[in-house]
Amino acid sequence: MKGIILAGGLGTRLHPLTKVTNKHLLPVFRKPMIYYPIQCLLNAGITDILIVTGGNNAGDFLKLLGNGKEFGLKHLNYTYQEGEGGIAEALDLAEHFADGDKICVVLGDNLIEKNIKAAVEDFEAIESGAMVLLKEVADPERFGVPVIEGENILRIEEKPANPGSNYAVTGIYMYDNNVFDIIKTLEPSKRGELEITDVNNAYIEKGTLVWRDLAGWWTDAGTFESLLNAANMVAASGANNLE
Ligand code: DAU
Repeated sequence: MKGIILAGGLGTRLHPLTKVTNKHLLPVFRKPMIYYPIQCLLNAGITDILIVTGGNNAGDFLKLLGNGKEFGLKHLNYTYQEGEGGIAEALDLAEHFADGDKICVVLGDNLIEKNIKAAVEDFEAIESGAMVLLKEVADPERFGVPVIEGENILRIEEKPANPGSNYAVTGIYMYDNNVFDIIKTLEPSKRGELEITDVNNAYIEKGTLVWRDLAGWWTDAGTFESLLNAANMVAASGANNLE
């Protein structure tokens, strides 16, 4: 399986912190934010990685990460998203890199405590479809929220005013190669973006979306509160959470 980290977008919710740099280069305790999704993929055994970045500071990713030597890698792949047309638009840029393989996508501002290797192995064993990882949260209205019946997700609602469950769809997604055909059918949402939630709903309609509970803590880091929370979680879980 190949790994894709989405680190585009303009991070406007974090102004002025993101006025002169990219959100994913901001510090989370001892490391720049982007280190955590890279380590998440490596811990799961995924070493063929593409970073999708954008904005005015894309070159800084190369300066910081180079070919991934600090992570024991010989090579890292990069591509560039113009503007911020949404998570699904950023993912579409990975079609050439995926080259028919299954992919594990991690949002660049998502941090987790535990290893997702078991879920990745489960998805490898499934012939086709998609997998999302869910986490129970206190503020589901900030996220994509699954409406669940028994073991099934009926649909996912993006930032609903009245959440249908207490779960968030975390920013870790696994897809087969159909994902790129699905993205090409999407229309921009009310916020003007191609939504990853619409991609996941398309898999639900086909009956091929599975889910797992994400163990350990999970947080995004795209708001002032969650960025602070992320640093505190990493600090409290010992050293830098990257080993
Ligand atoms: O964190 C999980 C949540 O992420 C999910 O529960 C939601 O369903 C999903 O829509 C997303 O919600 P956000 O509104 O918080 O996503 P945000 O716009 O903050 O983007 C998250 C990351 O995706 C960001 O750190 C970089 C990447 N991204 C985003 C956009 C809009 C891109 O690479 N390009 C983009 O155009």
